[in-house]
Order: sequence, then C-alpha cells, then structure tokens
Amino acid sequence: MQDQVFNNIPVPYNSILAATRKLSFDMASDLQTGALLRTLVASKPGGKMLELGTGSGLSTSWILQGMDHNAHLTTIENNAQLHEVATKHLSDRRAAFVLTDGYQWLKDYKGEKFDFIFADAMPGKYDLFEEAFSLLNHGGIYFIDDMLPQPNWPEGHAERVENFIAMLDQRTDVMLTKLNWSTGIIIVTKNEK
Ligand SMILES: C[S@@+](CC[C@H](N)C(=O)[O-])C[C@H]1O[C@@H](n2cnc3c(N)ncnc32)[C@H](O)[C@@H]1O
Repeated sequence: MQDQVFNNIPVPYNSILAATRKLSFDMASDLQTGALLRTLVASKPGGKMLELGTGSGLSTSWILQGMDHNAHLTTIENNAQLHEVATKHLSDRRAAFVLTDGYQWLKDYKGEKFDFIFADAMPGKYDLFEEAFSLLNHGGIYFIDDMLPQPNWPEGHAERVENFIAMLDQRTDVMLTKLNWSTGIIIVTKNEK
C-alpha cells in the first residue's frame, strides 16, 4: 500500500500552500493528516465541527471538503495574517472563521456542542483540555496530531506531550487509538463514564 498517494486534494490547497510558504509558517499539518481529517469529518453528516488553530487554512481545506451541506465548522485563530489567508481562500457558508484568542473563546463559549474537534493549538490541547473536551458530544471525535517529536518543538515540549498522553491513557470516558503515522496522531472518541 502506498500511503503517500492522495486523491482529490482540495482545490484551494495549493494556493494556500504557496501563501503559507510566503509567510514562512511551518506548523501546518501534512497531507496524511489532512486526508484522515477529511475521512473522519465525512462520517459526521450534518455535524458540528470545531478547529482550534486554523493556521493558514490547510487543514481547514480538508475538513471543509469532508463536510456535507448541512455540516458546520467553527475555526479559531489568533494570528490575523494567517486568518486572512484562510478566509481569502476558503470563504464558505458552512464555516465561521473566528479571529480571536482560543483561551478566551473556550472560556466564553456557551453554544451547541461539537461532533468533531481538531485541537491544533495550545488552548484545547495542552491547556484548557477539559474545557474543550466538555464541548464534545458523546460519540464525538477529538483529534490531535504532532504527537511524535517535531523539529519545531520548543524546549520542554516533549515532556508536556508525554504527560498529556498519560492523562488521556488514564481516562475512563474515552476510547483512543494512537497512530505512529504522519506527525503522530491520536483519535479519541468520547463515551459515557
Ligand atoms: C499547529 S498550527 C495550526 C495549523 C493548522 N491547523 C494546519 O494544520 O494547517 C497552530 C495555530 O494555532 C494558532 N494559535 C496559537 N495560539 C493561539 C491562541 N491562543 N488562540 C488561537 N490560536 C492560536 C497559531 O497562530 C497557529 O496558527
């Protein structure tokens, strides 16, 4: 099996990639993660999706492609330049691109819960995890990448990752699968305690 062959890459992907490179943004997800996001999101017709950390919109382009007409995505980013690239290339009636601080957003959000969360920023992953996880419906999917050592990890991050995985492993309200694939992915479903 050749897992580096991707069918039907989202149309805006390459122009977003060019803009991403111009900004020297090096935290975008790869094609494997994008393809898996698309597949999982497609399993939630009419679902409510949340992305924490839009970046320039590369992962968002896959998520949008996986969503059906009735699904909705809220995606949060605090960097205005990156938010602008994403909104310019991905304007879509099914998506709300929110330029705000994810910490504040997670503390303030009182709306409907989500069926799928891609937690790709510090808030909602290493910080305020409980707040983000409480926004997930039962049977919903919490998805994270970058769980294998990455060249851009700051000092001390490896220990944080280890502690975070240990915390997930100890929970009784989740079923999770770890994939040593792409940048290291964990797929978590939320279940009754
Ligand atoms: C790993 S990158 C996201 C990459 C994107 N999801 C992708 O795969 O292409 C993390 C993003 O979170 C954003 N971010 C960091 N701190 C944040 C905060 N407090 N609130 C909102 N966004 C934040 C960064 O600007 C960055 O774009």
